[in-house]
Amino acid sequence: MAPENSKGQYPPSDEYRETAFIKSAEEFNTLYEESIRDPAAYWAEQAENLDWYSKDWKEVFTWDKKENRFTWFKGGKLNASYNCLDRHVKNGKKNVAAIIFQGENDDHVRVYTYGRLLYEVERFANVLKSMGVKKGDRVSVYLPMIPELTITMLACARIGAVHSVVFAAFGAESLYNRVVDCTPKVIVTSDGNYHAGKTINMKAKVDEILEKGTTIEHVVVVRRTGIETDMKEGRDVWWHEEVAAVPLNCDPVPMDAEDPLFILYTSGTTGKPKGLLHTTGGYLLGAYTSFRNVFNYRPGQIFWCTADIGWITGHTSTVYGPLALGATALMFEGVPTYPGRDRYWQVAEKWGVDIFYTAPTAIRTIRQSGDEWVKKHDLSSLKMLASAGEPIDPDVWRWYHRVIGGGRCPISDTWWQTETGGPMIAPMTGAFDLKPGSAMKPLLGIQAAIYDEEKNICAPGESGNLYIESPPPSFARTIWNDHKKFVETYWTAFPGHYLTGDNARMDEDGDYWLLGRIDDVISVAGHRLGAAEIEAALISHPAVAEAAAVPMFDDIKGEAIYAYVTVKDGFNGTEELKRQLVDHVRTTVGPIATPKVIHFAPGLPKTRSGKIMRRILRKVAEGCRKEEIGDTTTLTDPGIVDTLIATRML
Ligand code: WT7
Repeated sequence: MAPENSKGQYPPSDEYRETAFIKSAEEFNTLYEESIRDPAAYWAEQAENLDWYSKDWKEVFTWDKKENRFTWFKGGKLNASYNCLDRHVKNGKKNVAAIIFQGENDDHVRVYTYGRLLYEVERFANVLKSMGVKKGDRVSVYLPMIPELTITMLACARIGAVHSVVFAAFGAESLYNRVVDCTPKVIVTSDGNYHAGKTINMKAKVDEILEKGTTIEHVVVVRRTGIETDMKEGRDVWWHEEVAAVPLNCDPVPMDAEDPLFILYTSGTTGKPKGLLHTTGGYLLGAYTSFRNVFNYRPGQIFWCTADIGWITGHTSTVYGPLALGATALMFEGVPTYPGRDRYWQVAEKWGVDIFYTAPTAIRTIRQSGDEWVKKHDLSSLKMLASAGEPIDPDVWRWYHRVIGGGRCPISDTWWQTETGGPMIAPMTGAFDLKPGSAMKPLLGIQAAIYDEEKNICAPGESGNLYIESPPPSFARTIWNDHKKFVETYWTAFPGHYLTGDNARMDEDGDYWLLGRIDDVISVAGHRLGAAEIEAALISHPAVAEAAAVPMFDDIKGEAIYAYVTVKDGFNGTEELKRQLVDHVRTTVGPIATPKVIHFAPGLPKTRSGKIMRRILRKVAEGCRKEEIGDTTTLTDPGIVDTLIATRML
């Protein structure tokens, strides 16, 4: 067992160190110094790990700081699906498992070798082609965690179409906003999905948005649950019928490194979700490199990331990272608590998972259920654990290490974002003595820094805004249809430095500690939700005049939603209305956005210019007393604060 040392840190065991990509802090430091002395040279060297049709880039990296446009390997040609499939098939991995699919029902299992996956991708790429999808066209994907999701993404990549996956648990309104923005020709969905023993109709939500009017001409429907499904003649087709009717072969299209690979939406500080655009060469290289560096993956190992592919974590850690490397990834459709609270461990034991990657919220849920659920299973196959999505509390970290990892598995706490495409700050687990709760150091080729409001570098121990100093290859290039917003959101606070939106501090050893968001983004169970999106949903209810959503502490979800609502004249803040509002948010945004508290307020604290003072609303939600709230003199009606405190809901 790797013991905790006298400083409360966790060094890797010698046995683990042996198998790691980087085996000591000295080795890391040397490589790191070299990688940031000339990042373009470092990334050009890494680019040798991908298969290119041509490496005719004039410059590895260009950065127009005035327009905030940057390119990596522009002029180079490659195809992401070729890199994730064909090259492994050619290199002796035809019969190696690429995806192990474990359905919610334990009997629903499918294993795709690299050879079989390539075959499925080629066929579905031909289906897309038969629908007139061409290079640059968008394809929306609204599928549960089933292999057709990965197949669709790679089929798009194969013919140069741009996929835009929407998380399957998003409601019709959220789906609609994401679809109208990227104007797809085709949407791929399923009849329904399984969730914690229930069957949910997905196709009905697609029908609902299509009625409102979109650019979608074709709907491809995967038969997953067999539930009754309305199919509209001439528009809707079944996946299995289409793939049976097309030719088997489809050559990959050589793409420029800077050609778009996908758009993925994320919540920001306004109601409109931001469609982050990722490109073929840079994103894929980032996914490959971070996967190799962070997870110390060895051939034959089984890697399991529990995140849904509807989020960036799933894009990079279940699809592009493992497949670019030729690894075996487990894809899991279910939830951690169904049919039993040991579902993850039963699946990990069943498949002999080597590397397990999840979010702190899942660990907290599982920890709360009690150790006996874990102890029922033999988890000796586990070699390494990882965490992402929100800060991991040191106590939860130690529990994860001791109970899940049996005290022998190092934990990599990986910090990243939809925007960064792949991990940016994460410990090299074979090289460092790990500190519970710290993401430790930026990865090779990545430069981070923490600045205060005056743009001075923060001293060790001081917290400030986390920036990434120059855009690495995996970064999003722009916001689809809105480059102005891209510039405003990320590059304006400190021109030439990327603003992450996170608070962080560095300790005396130069290790990073992430402290949460500084903007109006609420992280519910690691899912990023914009306050404005929830507010827009509340306001769309006929009884609501005004609404403000802020985070509140939740011991399982990390943060939960606390919503202040003022009702219109003629309405009363009744329990019945509360229930209606909660339901309304669940159907428009999705169940993840369920408010924990609805606080009916006669008014909201506003400045004279009419801006809602969220700082105050947050403090009230946290349970602060009047003295702790700070300055309220700029408010039009300072008395509202007393009313809110007096009527605070718990
Ligand atoms: C936000 C990005 C892991 C990528 C998936 C989430 C928070 C992410 C960590 C971590 C502390 C983290 C940040 C970030 N976050 N990882 N290891 N420690 N906070 O991508 O949905 O774009 O959310 O998640 O606040 O800004 P996302």
